[in-house]
Amino acid sequence: MPTPLPLLSPSARGFQAIPLAERPAGRQPIVPVLGRPPRVHLWHIGCQMNDADHEMLAERFAEIGFVPDAALDDADLAVLITCAVRQNAEQKVYGKFRDLIEWKRARPGRAVAMTGCMAVEHGSTLLRKLPELDYLFDVRDCDGFFARLQSVHGTDLDGPVPMPASDRLLAYVSVMGGCNEMCTYCIVPFVRGRETSRPVGEIVEDVHRLVERGVREVTLLGQNVNSYSDPGTGAGLPELLAAVDSVPGLWRLRFLTSHPRNALPGLFEAMRDLPTVCEQLHLPVQAGDDQLLRRMRRMYTVDEYLAKIASARATVPALALTTDIIVGFSAETEAEFLGTEQLLRTVRFDVVHLQAYSVRPGTAAARRPDDVPLTEKKRRLNHLLELQRDIALQRNLALVGERIEILVESTTDDGRPFGRTRQGKIALLPAGSAAVGELCVATVRTANAWQLAADVEAAAA
Ligand code: SAH
Ligand code: SF4
Ligand code: F3S
Repeated sequence: MPTPLPLLSPSARGFQAIPLAERPAGRQPIVPVLGRPPRVHLWHIGCQMNDADHEMLAERFAEIGFVPDAALDDADLAVLITCAVRQNAEQKVYGKFRDLIEWKRARPGRAVAMTGCMAVEHGSTLLRKLPELDYLFDVRDCDGFFARLQSVHGTDLDGPVPMPASDRLLAYVSVMGGCNEMCTYCIVPFVRGRETSRPVGEIVEDVHRLVERGVREVTLLGQNVNSYSDPGTGAGLPELLAAVDSVPGLWRLRFLTSHPRNALPGLFEAMRDLPTVCEQLHLPVQAGDDQLLRRMRRMYTVDEYLAKIASARATVPALALTTDIIVGFSAETEAEFLGTEQLLRTVRFDVVHLQAYSVRPGTAAARRPDDVPLTEKKRRLNHLLELQRDIALQRNLALVGERIEILVESTTDDGRPFGRTRQGKIALLPAGSAAVGELCVATVRTANAWQLAADVEAAAA
């Protein structure tokens, strides 16, 4: 019998939004009247959810009359959108915060706000720990924060500020929040709460608006995006993809992150049949040993995972596969680790995001010893990094001579246009051979483990 695993209780952190919190009265900053709209500097770290939240907050700031996304030196308010997935993410946030102490002292009236996953994880203890922190708010429920700013800065606000024109080609759209899985190592369900999906119609409207502004490639986001379910109709991810695919002017559609448990044939068929949906699947496996997967509570076996991959590859032959791996989880044996190594050799992923296990206080796994020594975690990490570098190189070299489609995103410092292929691989073109915003057909000339170099055949759009 498997040991019963804890479920998320209503009282768990993250189930309800945290209330807005501020520095204690008496330690409030003196807010000067600026005589101009205040400027906000937004900074984020962590996953694509935070990228999307960054965009959303910039728009909200513009709506209340702040100048959105200013450079730090020009800013009156700094907002940190944080991540708590591993300890090093939190350390980076504290590092950024330290820089802001000087920034804040340089001009009276400057303020610092924190939101994102660390804000939910630590709550108002952050205000005690960080005396320079002025506001703490929950990005899932930020009306109170904006109302507070409007009352503090009232005389400087002069109606909505236009968002600066954007030449963005790529955008993220959150389609659901939260995660109902309870992987034992993971903090995300505690800081993002239960899954809540947005209606298909609203998402399609967002995509329309983005395409009107020039966006050509959209990535739909959810921590467990393939459990998407329209709150009214129950439509799933394949139906959502079909609805977004039909938005005129959209060239490419991607989605992140799929849980193997919910990756079903209907999804692979949608990927095959819908013209905009790119041949790329991010399917985190985490480990390649059944016992280890059970301790992680991943709800599948290695064979089940391999069967999903076989089905996905049979349906979408050009599929690029990417994954996440954790090494050095509690009690990971050498034999279990070798199972993960074997899995990488068997599947031959295009990209593998490797992480050393980091204990997250309050998770189920935190009750187990973190007993793989750091040096051993690093050895295992480096071993897989090297192995994967060879695999990625072989996979990319196999593309030499093939035709690929590139959406040109930008140019390198030495003037070479580059962008991504439908498989999500970075491809560089000769200087002067394509313009930003173009969709090109090119032939792969050379490759290394990280990118392709290609020659343009023709502009495809
Ligand atoms: N929902 C996605 C992504 C979650 S967080 C998924 O199911 O995969 C992104 C990645 O961070 C995870 O895939 C996992 O590999 C890694 N991760 C999460 N918690 C971690 C921890 N405590 N220590 C190390 N890596 C972790
Ligand atoms: Fe974390 Fe992803 Fe597992 Fe959800 S599915 S608990 S986000 S690793
Ligand atoms: Fe980090 Fe929160 Fe994303 S913990 S990985 S920013 S959901």
